[in-house]
Amino acid sequence: MQIVHNRESLLDQIKEYKFRGKKITLIPTMGNLHQGHQALFSKAPANSIKIATIYVNPLQFNNNDDYHNYPRSMQSDLEVCRQNNISLVYVPYGDISNEIDIEKNIDLPKFTRYLCGQTREDHFHGVYKIVKHLFNIVNPDFACFGKKDYQQLLLIKYIARTYFPDLEITEVDTVRSNNIALSSRLNRLSNKSLQNTKVIYETLRNIRQDLIDGNDFKCIQKKFIKKIENNNIIVEYLEHRKSDTLELADGHLNNSSVFIACIIDNIRLIDNLQI
Ligand code: PAJ
Repeated sequence: MQIVHNRESLLDQIKEYKFRGKKITLIPTMGNLHQGHQALFSKAPANSIKIATIYVNPLQFNNNDDYHNYPRSMQSDLEVCRQNNISLVYVPYGDISNEIDIEKNIDLPKFTRYLCGQTREDHFHGVYKIVKHLFNIVNPDFACFGKKDYQQLLLIKYIARTYFPDLEITEVDTVRSNNIALSSRLNRLSNKSLQNTKVIYETLRNIRQDLIDGNDFKCIQKKFIKKIENNNIIVEYLEHRKSDTLELADGHLNNSSVFIACIIDNIRLIDNLQI
């Protein structure tokens, strides 16, 4: 497995893969790798060269503390990459924001303003910038992203559709353990809080059942928020929206999902469930 730390070495290596006629799968991450990331690694098409990136992107954090406290575990991450047959890992040194082309007036699709976009100003601009930058450098044939970050996945598909029409995005189901959607941030929770977070996915499943049974989301929303908040969790949003546009579902179950963001021990967690 090769590890490169700068754009030039990465480009050299990509050139060689392309010269040898290889297909490339890109799997961008911010590290602290867990089973969710490994599911992405395993979904790369067979025979493609797997390139992972490990980079905590400051542009997508709207809180400096969150950026600095983001868990970092480079040595064990590299070991995980090795075990998952990653051919090359790009680990930029330091902050590479200044390498990224500053596009003026980035006009993101409307759905980026809902859900996480309501409170995390500029978050999706930061994701857009780094992912487009990585796509530009690597020019991959495939790229894998998780449904856990569903709104981000929609944005990635928008980027691919708009600027990289030959790129195929592989969508990977959310990996959960003990009913908790795996997240790098879970490491920072106490054991007690970790137990409490189980209520998040349980609630999503209960809501799905209630909706299928004919209940109106507006009538059950408060009850479920309360149920979660009884576990020392603050609910930032709990919403039922259309899965493609993220507009409010307004009673339509077809192609809709329930989305949640909440905060526990100052750690922000998200999850979603397709109805
Ligand atoms: P990160 O949170 O490290 O996640 C990297 C990829 O792993 C994303 O596509 C995310 O959706 C996926 N992932 C995370 N947890 C998952 C889980 N439990 N099940 C399935 N997939 C999961 O998302 C980012 O980094 C960044 O925003 C990035 C795209 C790298 C841009 O900086």
